Amino acid sequence: MSGKKNLNNYSAQKIIGRKIILRVLEKDDLKRTLAWLKDPSVNMYLSQNFCDYTEDQELKWFKFIQSSNNDIVFAIEDINTNLHIGNCALHKINWEKGACELGIVIGEKGYWNKGYGSDATINVIKFAMSELNLKSIKLNVYKYNRRAIKVYKKCGFKLIQTQKKNHLYNGKYWDTLIMEFKKT
Ligand SMILES: CC(C)(COP(=O)(O)OP(=O)(O)OC[C@H]1O[C@@H](n2cnc3c(N)ncnc32)[C@H](O)[C@@H]1OP(=O)(O)O)[C@@H](O)C(=O)NCCC(=O)NCCS
Repeated sequence: MSGKKNLNNYSAQKIIGRKIILRVLEKDDLKRTLAWLKDPSVNMYLSQNFCDYTEDQELKWFKFIQSSNNDIVFAIEDINTNLHIGNCALHKINWEKGACELGIVIGEKGYWNKGYGSDATINVIKFAMSELNLKSIKLNVYKYNRRAIKVYKKCGFKLIQTQKKNHLYNGKYWDTLIMEFKKT
């Protein structure tokens, strides 16, 4: 058993990486976040279609996250400029099993392929394992998201299941990969 932590205790915490800082998402970050989620060239990689998502729905989601002891969402900031460039999150934390799910988006596309996503992933894994004392992190990724798969493999995630052709994108059915990071 992992031992339940109170996620409110992390509201002022900053996690410092090589290229990024992770801090808990704030209300002021929501407008920017919504614009990223609605951008088709970002949304094509996400598990939910945010095209019709409204500011009201996002605010409800934010209030849910704030009151949840099973979800924590971090803003990813560029360490040099403090610009908010994306978010990453641990969801569905199961304190009994020591398990959770990872989500990440670098919404500022000019920051893709520059190591920010890898650094955020490494640091959120460290936080989940060392601070929250979790033992396993799972995620879903579409097979066409080769960049994300590369990042996850590099950070220690292993493929544990392939859901065959269950995701329709661009007129074609694609596999969804389930990957897992396990504490050794
Ligand atoms: C996926 C994401 C978080 C990765 O972050 P990032 O900062 O762009 O990634 P990094 O620069 O840290 O690493 C990218 C790696 O993929 C590689 N890569 C890029 N395009 C690739 C491709 N088409 N095929 C294979 N590898 C690719 C890069 O060379 C790099 O590898 P390296 O470090 O060995 O050189 C970010 O691109 C993103 O948010 N994308 C949109 C939303 C998304 O896909 N979220 C994840 C949903 S599961």
